[in-house]
Amino acid sequence: MRVLGIESTCDETGVSIVDDGTRILSNVVLSQVPLHERFGGVVPEIASRAHVEAITRMVERAFAEADLPLPDGVSEANVDAIAVANRPGLVGSLLVGVTAAKSLSLAWNLPLVAVDHVQAHVYSVAMGFGDDVPEPIEFPAVALIVSGGHTSLYLAKSWTDHELIGSTMDDAAGEAFDKASAILGLGYPGGPAISKAAVDGDPKAVRFPRTLLEPESLDFSFSGIKTSVLYHVKGQNARRATPSREISVPDTAASFEQAVCDVLTKKVARAVKKTGVKTAVVGGGVAANGRLRRELEAYGEKHGVVIRYPALKLCTDNGAMIAGLGDCL
Ligand code: KG4
Ligand code: ZN
Repeated sequence: MRVLGIESTCDETGVSIVDDGTRILSNVVLSQVPLHERFGGVVPEIASRAHVEAITRMVERAFAEADLPLPDGVSEANVDAIAVANRPGLVGSLLVGVTAAKSLSLAWNLPLVAVDHVQAHVYSVAMGFGDDVPEPIEFPAVALIVSGGHTSLYLAKSWTDHELIGSTMDDAAGEAFDKASAILGLGYPGGPAISKAAVDGDPKAVRFPRTLLEPESLDFSFSGIKTSVLYHVKGQNARRATPSREISVPDTAASFEQAVCDVLTKKVARAVKKTGVKTAVVGGGVAANGRLRRELEAYGEKHGVVIRYPALKLCTDNGAMIAGLGDCL
């Protein structure tokens, strides 16, 4: 079965065609970063308008990249269903993707499937480009979803049965990267900018707090570390208008990144211990972070836990994970 997947929950317009739920035939993603970066974050009204302008073109490109003719409503459609992310997300952005998907399903007489965006991030570890499909996952598994809008831990019993076992009490992990990056003047999106700056930094240079909450807690809190970065850069109570000259940006970036990765790894370890599972899956934009991958890998090797990530291109928002999970529903 071939599924067309549409993603428009936030600031990426993604359209993809996926075969058998795992083989990605095409995956086109239009990032709106250039439209939002001067505001330091996503502006919902700009986002929905940009989705409207892009969506038809992206559907056409997804068919072209998959080497399939665009359905004309008369002959064979070449895809068997349409999947669309309909939750959670920015309401105006969601509306564009859902309206496009409904219109195409009516025009082409195809079934329409509604997909949860966060569950789709978990599913992204099952997918590959062309024939490069990863090994199946062993359930139950712990799933950590770390993105700009979400930081949650699930006990996943299957691709579609997820029990929430931990979530953030304030900022999401990606949001913490974005805010720390803004404080350091490194730009948006913060994750890749911090990682790049951190390459030449010493992760032990600044001792930022690791907020782990109660000893058994699987919840997260990143507001403390964000404030610590602010005070470190701009002085106690953020009184300095500009960063002090003595601050090393690479050391601050590396120390911040290390602190966030330590917390995420520790929480995965707690979740694995509590649930007794043998596999942990990590998805979402922050799953692209090299330091996080290394930390989790080291933990997994030491404790005999299989750690699974999506391909780098599938960490941030995309239509492929929507089409893939849509095939399972
Ligand atoms: O999954 P995603 O595209 O959107 C949401 O569903 O929110 O994630 C975007 C987030 C941004 O906050 C961005 O800073 C973060 O993922 N991100 C990273 C990296 N690449 C993207 N964070 C840390 N390291 C990265 N390499
Ligand atoms: Zn996402």
